[in-house]
Amino acid sequence: MINCNFENPFRPGAGHRPPHLAGREPETREFMRLLSQQTVLENLILTGLRGVGKTVLLDALKPQAIREGWLWIGTDLSESASVSEEAMAIRLLTDLSVVTSTLVYERSEELMGFTEQAQLDKTLNFHTLRAIFNATPGLVSDKLKNVLEIVWRVLWAHNARGLVFAYDEAQNLADQAHKEQYPLSLLLDVFQSLQKKDIRFMLVLAGLPTLFTKLVEARTYAERMFHLVFLDSLDEEASREAILKPIEAADCPLKLKKKTVTTIIDLSGGYPYFLQFICREVYDAFIQQLDSGKEVYVPVDEIVHKLDTDFFAGRWNRATDRQRDLLAVIAGLPDCDREFSVQDIAAASAANGGKPFSASQVSQMLASLGNAGLVYKNRHGRYSFAVPLLGQFIRRQEAPAPGDTM
Ligand SMILES: Nc1ncnc2c1ncn2[C@@H]1O[C@H](COP(=O)(O)OP(=O)(O)OP(=O)(O)O)[C@@H](O)[C@H]1O
Ligand SMILES: [Mg+2]
Repeated sequence: MINCNFENPFRPGAGHRPPHLAGREPETREFMRLLSQQTVLENLILTGLRGVGKTVLLDALKPQAIREGWLWIGTDLSESASVSEEAMAIRLLTDLSVVTSTLVYERSEELMGFTEQAQLDKTLNFHTLRAIFNATPGLVSDKLKNVLEIVWRVLWAHNARGLVFAYDEAQNLADQAHKEQYPLSLLLDVFQSLQKKDIRFMLVLAGLPTLFTKLVEARTYAERMFHLVFLDSLDEEASREAILKPIEAADCPLKLKKKTVTTIIDLSGGYPYFLQFICREVYDAFIQQLDSGKEVYVPVDEIVHKLDTDFFAGRWNRATDRQRDLLAVIAGLPDCDREFSVQDIAAASAANGGKPFSASQVSQMLASLGNAGLVYKNRHGRYSFAVPLLGQFIRRQEAPAPGDTM
């Protein structure tokens, strides 16, 4: 008799650490290489589709950096950090103070003459950082650079090898030209300038695939300043590990057959969120089936249906009828899971026999679908779905699949 009293080890969810972080060794090696730089010439961008594992990889890099003698600060970047240059500066000072607040600051000549000096605390806490910032003459970028340079001298004296500024959801960064506020450019300018002075501060930004394009649009030199790591779905071996290792580690009495593992890999396309989601469902289903004394099987239709409702439907329901027609044309393109162009879509819609879309209509609609987070434009001006396996989902809406279980 199998004991069904064990906790389901799988963790589908945003930023939930998986029971086993599968694959990602090459990406981790890249990061380690960047940590070995004496002068920071390259910073890191972790990018990829929704649910591919950017947040959990970022979290996993932190202990690696700390082991190498680096300090690590950071958070999620919300839109509010991009409201103004001052807001961006305050964001950085706030995060910085987490590692500096216990460091004693020998008030050196660099603050001589600053009116606030008498009010400065003895440590580099937020209050001190802010006071130095306020007292520095010049633009926000001058003030910020000055604070960061002072902090680096103190960190260096405390034997820190470097400091990683890790920001997730960095696609929220944006300049606000209409308000003459350039927080994104500020961030890039300040780091570039400090890195030129051999100050070992490294930016690690994680976000959706629009991120890199945004950075390069703000500052063309961003292309050379960042090493781009595009996280993809897991290959077959890593997918297998993601499924089997947690079961081994949790000593689950239920074992999956080879065929079941293959079914899960096929259904998930190797996308980490889908792997966690499907495995969790499979395990719950197995337990129920065992409880009721039935022979166990993977309820493929039910799982796909639940995935459609929980993951895809919210996004799909926000699209208008005309947008859905366009998405259906895209989902019919042979290369829709990789990339497609305005011309591909316009040509396919003309060939489909329905009401065709002109190229300019397609361009406009892709822009609004981009804002809705369904597609994104890559650096070469071509488009891709921003949500993994969206093409399959759309095709299921068009023609529901026949019953299929194993
Ligand atoms: N390498 C991996 N092996 C196994 N599971 C993983 C792996 N990477 C991520 N996961 C799982 O996939 C899910 C999504 O991960 P995560 O939230 O990090 O994705 P994300 O790319 O940050 O998504 P978003 O774009 O929504 O921010 C989580 O449940 C996580 O546990
Ligand atoms: Mg994330």
